[in-house]
Amino acid sequence: MRIAFVSAEVYPFSKVGGLGDVAGALPLELAELGVEIMVITPRYGSIDHSDFGIQDSPYRFTVKLGNEAIDCGLSRWQSPQHPNVRVYFIENERYFGSRGVYTDRKGTPCDDNAQRFLLLSKAALEICKVMNWIPDIIHCNDNHCALISVYLKNKPSEYPLFQNTKTLLTLHNIAYQGTVSMDRRGIYDLPDNLFYPTVPMEWYGRINPLKAGILFADAINTVSPTHAREIAEDEQFSAGLKGVIAATGKPVHGILNGVDYSKWSPQRDIYIAKPYSVRTVSEKKFNKIALLNDTGIDPAMVDKPLIGMVTRLVEQKGIPLLIEGLERMLALDLAIIILGSGEPDYERSLSAFAERFPGRLKIDFGYNNPLSHKIMAGCDMFLMPSRFEPCGITQMAALKYGTAPVVHQTGGLADTVIQWNGQTGNGFVFEEYAVDDLIKSVRSAISVYYDKYKWRQIMLNGMATDFSWQQSAKQYIELYHSLL
Ligand code: ADP
Ligand code: GLC
Repeated sequence: MRIAFVSAEVYPFSKVGGLGDVAGALPLELAELGVEIMVITPRYGSIDHSDFGIQDSPYRFTVKLGNEAIDCGLSRWQSPQHPNVRVYFIENERYFGSRGVYTDRKGTPCDDNAQRFLLLSKAALEICKVMNWIPDIIHCNDNHCALISVYLKNKPSEYPLFQNTKTLLTLHNIAYQGTVSMDRRGIYDLPDNLFYPTVPMEWYGRINPLKAGILFADAINTVSPTHAREIAEDEQFSAGLKGVIAATGKPVHGILNGVDYSKWSPQRDIYIAKPYSVRTVSEKKFNKIALLNDTGIDPAMVDKPLIGMVTRLVEQKGIPLLIEGLERMLALDLAIIILGSGEPDYERSLSAFAERFPGRLKIDFGYNNPLSHKIMAGCDMFLMPSRFEPCGITQMAALKYGTAPVVHQTGGLADTVIQWNGQTGNGFVFEEYAVDDLIKSVRSAISVYYDKYKWRQIMLNGMATDFSWQQSAKQYIELYHSLL
């Protein structure tokens, strides 16, 4: 089976959030199970060719954006372990060359993302043509490449080679729909009747690529079973698209993401002070001591609960709830470390707290992969108060490090974290997205923390969980087969 896997982010080449993790790991696991896979993504200026051994290729192709013909180059990376996986990079200096994934080098969102990701979508089809490699399935991820199915279904005469190709659209985050002003309609080169009020490309007077992608994809899925139900049944979770999903008459499949345990395992983590395993779990403490030391938290907190967060600082992640509850949490005689970057207003509020509670609250506003590993290994609890969470990868990693997640019961958090009941369970789950519930959950985590026997059991339960990519890859293969 041939799969073209198209994504705006692919780790380790580019990553903003979990989409990069998924696109970096799932194709390798699919290849392991015998799938032939071509990953297609832009070559952003932030990707260094020489770092990764990316090779230039002589192939060039042209993509039409409105009246303009955009000339693109192609470079390629071949996985050393998996001959079945190739990554093709779209090269275009103007749209990708000097930028990051969604922003310029200074972090300002690009105002031509509609063109950039339309280029990704159309280029993916051109690359398959130029390489003379026609996939059975095109696996599209999020709004950035959702339009692929729209072109295949509405411009079949331009894509005759793809007449038997099916599309799967994975919704990693339905809240980001890539909407753009109707003024840009000219760039799409799609029939006018797709843009009239209420029809596939139109959304409250704007253009909505994700809506159209949902309507024309042969199948859709999201990244956990609970979130699949949430978006099919609830207007708010679906960010307004519940009716559109219902109009397809198709189910939303829920396939839980995995964690890449080759990078996220306390036994072989290259970033942490002291590796540990289920048998040597008491040595996790050395990582706590090192983390307190590195971040300047009062060393006297070593025997008190230490809560960590690694997150984008956006509303989805429950940052407003965190800010509302922070003072009450800090009154509970604990310390908190937050690694995150995002909205400036949240950064300002959190900085103000950090100044008031030196030695107890540390915040790093960077993007820092080594520190994210040290937090996993060094903290006792991992907080994710997300308002909604399609899957979430960090809570699954935290479990493997024996760092008990404290989470809101939503989406993938509800599917992976099980409330401790005195004997079983691997973390703490609060039902209502409300500050009182958050505090209650943190309090109950703290009371178990001081019962060393029970706490050890929670840690071991978490470390025993298995959310490896293999499980997810098998389910994707079943879904691909059902389309063919
Ligand atoms: P989302 O994709 O919604 O941000 P996920 O939990 O699926 O949430 O994935 C987030 C990924 O990004 C994880 O791999 C996490 O470790 C990483 N991450 C998020 N923020 C940071 C940060 N500030 N520094 C380092 N890694 C981060
Ligand atoms: C999105 C979601 C997150 C999910 C990730 C990868 O960014 O917010 O919950 O884990 O995609 O699927």
